Amino acid sequence: MEDSFMNLYPVTDPVACRRDKEKLLNQHAVAIWIYGLSGAGKSTIGLGFEKEITELGFMCRLLDGDEMRTGISNNLGFTLEDRHENIRRLAEVNRLFLNTGIITVNCFVSPTRQIRDMAKSIIGTDDFVDVFISTPLEVCEKRDTKGLYKRAREKQIPNFTGITSPFEIPEKCDLEINTQSMKVEECVKILVDYVLPKITLKK
Ligand code: ADX
Repeated sequence: MEDSFMNLYPVTDPVACRRDKEKLLNQHAVAIWIYGLSGAGKSTIGLGFEKEITELGFMCRLLDGDEMRTGISNNLGFTLEDRHENIRRLAEVNRLFLNTGIITVNCFVSPTRQIRDMAKSIIGTDDFVDVFISTPLEVCEKRDTKGLYKRAREKQIPNFTGITSPFEIPEKCDLEINTQSMKVEECVKILVDYVLPKITLKK
């Protein structure tokens, strides 16, 4: 008991550590939270964004739902409770990156307002960039890039977002991108233009 209580004391000052690392990397770290339905285009935009800002000299780490679920969240499924725990873990991972001065770009379905609010409160409002990919269900289902919608309609996948599990659209967000009528490069440019002033370290 005594031991676990002692472990609650931090060993480093995360804020001081973060400022030093940000200076070293010449950037201000933020967490970009890209959410929306499966097949909406989150990962495509996230990858494009990571590539662009890396070329501009920024240090960024992409965190993607499909990849995270093979590792840190490999014991979780898709009930709302498991999704909540998935996002809680990933928001904590974001804090580690931010305190290392590294920009993150997150691509998770994050289907409910409660789940997104939790991520925002773990990460901190000032460091959280809320990006909704609003591509409609009909378009995502038509694309069906991974064949998951078909399987969900055939009842082979339970709790599938948009079919048998809810997706709540946000009341407000920092940026909304609908991939339906724009090219990938245009979507990526909108995000890069929005984020650049936030990650540029003020002298
Ligand atoms: S979240 O809801 O917890 O944020 P996350 O982004 O990690 O979801 O994982 C979503 C990805 O898992 C989808 O892109 C899809 O490839 C896959 N997946 C498998 N089963 C489901 C399901 N039941 N609902 C949504 N996505 C699923």
